Amino acid sequence: MATAVDPASEFSALPEVGADVFTAPLDRPPHVGEDWLEPKQRDYSSDDDAIWNDLFERQMDILPGRACGAFFAGLQKLHLNRGGVPEFAKLSEELGALTGWTVVPVPMLIPDHVFFWHLANRRFPAGNFIRSRANFDYIQEPDVFHDVFGHVPLLTDPVFANYMHEYGKAGWKAMRYNRLKALGALYWYTVEFGLIREGPGDQGDLKIYGAGILSGPREAVFALEAQSPNRIMLNVDRVMRTDYVIDDLQPTYFVIESFDDLYHQTVERDFDRLYRGLGAGFTYANSAVIDVDDVLHRGTQEYHLRGGRGSNAAPV
Ligand SMILES: [Fe+2]
Repeated sequence: MATAVDPASEFSALPEVGADVFTAPLDRPPHVGEDWLEPKQRDYSSDDDAIWNDLFERQMDILPGRACGAFFAGLQKLHLNRGGVPEFAKLSEELGALTGWTVVPVPMLIPDHVFFWHLANRRFPAGNFIRSRANFDYIQEPDVFHDVFGHVPLLTDPVFANYMHEYGKAGWKAMRYNRLKALGALYWYTVEFGLIREGPGDQGDLKIYGAGILSGPREAVFALEAQSPNRIMLNVDRVMRTDYVIDDLQPTYFVIESFDDLYHQTVERDFDRLYRGLGAGFTYANSAVIDVDDVLHRGTQEYHLRGGRGSNAAPV
């Protein structure tokens, strides 16, 4: 990412966070150090393993025909169907041999600069805990199911794995310009909620690669089949100016042609120039369609106009 990061940057040490850079205030548990790593992965109970298995099965009923090929290939390569919460050490061994990534346990959501540092060193921090039955359908804090089932299979794809690595390195520059929100929007609309065009023909079919969609039951159908959301081809500049919702289905999904397309669009962008032109806030609402958009589907936004989560609105 010659233009997105400072080539002279050193990524082996935790980055400094400038006094003017706002990061979410998170209380570090006393048993973890500045790297926020758990000394070891949790020992899971048989109930925990049963929750993993049930979540896994539910997604397997929904995702065939909807998730992208690289996701299923990753599940197979890492044998994620062997039952129970996967052991990170075993996963890391298998993943390491494929793309040089490891999976490391963290207690909870971690600060941005620590997250960037781990990614820049090809370590994927995964939540150590698993949701309870009471929160089976939805949790806001990423748990081991979201992180491992949703994110880790794609790390077996060499190009996507490199994108994640470059994304981590790009954090240094975003902090220097105090534009973490913009870089966060890129992660949100790609790694968490991205769609990809796949298959034969000029248009191909839309498939899911975003972990936020892959790890939940409702959004896989909504993202691909509902009339409400916009589906727009990814444009990095535009996405980094676009607000997003963290606790409901997305009003807009952005679509990539391929992981090569995603990688090149990002690494070839002059982020210095982009950050200099950005304000502190977002320019576009999360449901906006703008002149420069290559629109695949202009959404009705019916779901959100009827009240979204917490209302009786159907995800249509
Ligand atoms: Fe995630």
